[in-house]
Amino acid sequence: MVYENKRVEEMNYFELIAWLGIGSSHPGGFPATKLNLDAIQVTPEEYVLDAGCGSGLTACHLAKTVGCKIAGVDISPQMIEKARLRAEKEGVSHLVEFCVSDVYDLPFNDNHFDLVIAESITVFLDKVKVYLEFFRILKPEGRVADLEMALLKELPANLRHQMEQCFGFGTNPLSFEEWHNALEQAGFQDVEIKNTQALKDNGNVVMNELKKDWLLIKDLTTKIKRQPNLLPRLQKNAGFMKKNRSYFGFGLIYGRKPTLKKLGFKDWVWQVLFRRKA
Ligand SMILES: C[S@@+](CC[C@H](N)C(=O)[O-])C[C@H]1O[C@@H](n2cnc3c(N)ncnc32)[C@H](O)[C@@H]1O
Repeated sequence: MVYENKRVEEMNYFELIAWLGIGSSHPGGFPATKLNLDAIQVTPEEYVLDAGCGSGLTACHLAKTVGCKIAGVDISPQMIEKARLRAEKEGVSHLVEFCVSDVYDLPFNDNHFDLVIAESITVFLDKVKVYLEFFRILKPEGRVADLEMALLKELPANLRHQMEQCFGFGTNPLSFEEWHNALEQAGFQDVEIKNTQALKDNGNVVMNELKKDWLLIKDLTTKIKRQPNLLPRLQKNAGFMKKNRSYFGFGLIYGRKPTLKKLGFKDWVWQVLFRRKA
């Protein structure tokens, strides 16, 4: 396996969480996932994409609780390998399919999915570019639900630098208003931010959920023993968020692709220019 011999101090943030196989590496952890799934009410008939699915915890949970069909994509082969193992062990391989893919260029036809969910991935990427790709692969009336970190007030340059040291260069949470605008810019309508929360010090709740994730904990002790810098690295990230939590919140950026309509000349020109499908 690619990262098994890499030192923790050489891993970037994505490599670190892929090596650990963390199932809920997003703000609010798995409790936030469950709250959001309650709010969006996925039905068994819907075909769902989990974009940036990580080790597949949310996708497998959806398969088990709702019984819908799900595709999960992630750019990390190691995450996808773990997600497949999870689906197999949890008996949902018949409902969930995982593949390595870049969310900027998804291997699916236009108008393919009923719902795209994403959790803590757009924050690291070009938001409108990702949302345009979600727009393309969603059916008319299809929904997007993206759980992301938001800035509650301006982040001073020194803290932005520290944040990038913890989570990678380019980590860029927007204000709730900017998130809203990004989804609208990509063509979504009825945009709203659901379940907004300030970043609470609810480490214990999130930790209790992490302890239930067998894929994460199965060889965690060995990893901690072999790599003495693992705990300090995790503590540095958690410490940054704890110390500066007044700057951060999170919420579910939610919208719907408009109904297919007959194109007017102006719309046609717009779509040809921006390669956007209605
Ligand atoms: C913070 S993790 C979140 C994973 C998962 N959604 C969760 O909540 O646990 C971000 C994930 O996005 C993936 N990722 C980053 N850039 C990507 C891209 N361009 N296309 C697909 N996945 C990407 C990373 O490999 C990582 O698994």
